[in-house]
Amino acid sequence: MQAHNLHDLRELARRRLPKGIFEYIDRGVEDEVALRENRDAFDRVKLSPYVLRDVAGRSSEASLFGAPLAMPVAVAPTGSAGLVWYQGELELARAAAAAGIPFTLATAAMTSMEAIASEVRGGRLWFQLNMFADRSISHAMVARAERLGFEALLLTADCSVTPNREYNARNGFALPFRASPRSLVDMSLHPRWLAGVMLRYLLGTGLPKYENYPAEMRTNVTGFSTLKGAGRCEDLNWNDVATLRRLWPRTLIVKGILRPEDARHAVELGVDGVVVSNHGGRTVDSTQAPIAALPRIVDAIGHQATVLMDGGIRRGSDVIKALALGAEAVLVGRPTLFGTAIGGQRGASHALLLLRAEIEREMGLMGLRQVDDITRDLLAD
Ligand SMILES: Cc1cc2nc3c(=O)[nH]c(=O)nc-3n(C[C@H](O)[C@H](O)[C@H](O)COP(=O)(O)O)c2cc1C
Repeated sequence: MQAHNLHDLRELARRRLPKGIFEYIDRGVEDEVALRENRDAFDRVKLSPYVLRDVAGRSSEASLFGAPLAMPVAVAPTGSAGLVWYQGELELARAAAAAGIPFTLATAAMTSMEAIASEVRGGRLWFQLNMFADRSISHAMVARAERLGFEALLLTADCSVTPNREYNARNGFALPFRASPRSLVDMSLHPRWLAGVMLRYLLGTGLPKYENYPAEMRTNVTGFSTLKGAGRCEDLNWNDVATLRRLWPRTLIVKGILRPEDARHAVELGVDGVVVSNHGGRTVDSTQAPIAALPRIVDAIGHQATVLMDGGIRRGSDVIKALALGAEAVLVGRPTLFGTAIGGQRGASHALLLLRAEIEREMGLMGLRQVDDITRDLLAD
């Protein structure tokens, strides 16, 4: 099967990955209402194209936080690229750099920020921060990211309580990972993944670890919950944002905003940007879709800060819709993981090429020559 679009990449990844890992990436929480709504809300937005406008020589190039990017897209933080491909984060980061867009490394990644910074040349690198209950651990990560030259720090605000992912428990892939008859059968039914990913880890450095955690906490995926407060912090609050603003001199972004007053609060504390996001439908299962929440947040802070969005981007036309509704750029999560799962850097690059080609094609069909031409008047009432 060839991948003509991001849906095809998902199907190829479904075949390649053990069911437990595929579902961990693909699914949402509880009844998956938010996950479905993220897509349905995009489908409800209708566009009104211009014609006869000479769209030869159009370009998807844009700028974000004062630096250029080849299309208004960034790779979202996901703590699991290293599970879908051997050193998957490195592969995905290289693909993002080659595609001319930012890559966000997650706190819970299986590749260290040092490795990403030294091996991904010429890319725009962002670091996503999970606040630990012991703040000093996260603040030390912030210092590392600054020293390594990461361009932006992105605080995840919407996941301080462990979400309800029942399918992980059912399919034997909950964290901490415990080998069960079901997970062992699942893995053995996917020999390409077993040999190409898991065996390579086992023959090299052992089971994948949370490489960004401090040395004494750097357990592998079987030890996750033994870490008290690892990457979750139920008392995360606005004071943490104020502290990060003092600690971090570069671009600071808060991810997981769905309310205009929260966006305003972030701006009052000096944040440079927000990501309107419901974590890809992976936290509260009845949230409004980010694309629906976006316009009110843009109206509230768009003149003062950069508004990004994510959740459900699967087509170039989705990017056009998000920008028409006021986002400066979007983040993509699952599609680039699916690409990475089927071919490492090559697969991730293919995902990004497909998206860019769709954006450029859609711009042409909409009568647009440049990204700045994407405005609210493109929306059909
Ligand atoms: C497997 C997986 C792991 C994720 N891990 C994180 C994470 O560690 N931190 C975070 O802020 N968001 C995380 N996210 C959410 C993404 O950053 C992003 O908000 C979401 O995937 C966007 O929706 P999309 O997948 O429909 O593009 C994760 C998403 C997935 C699918």
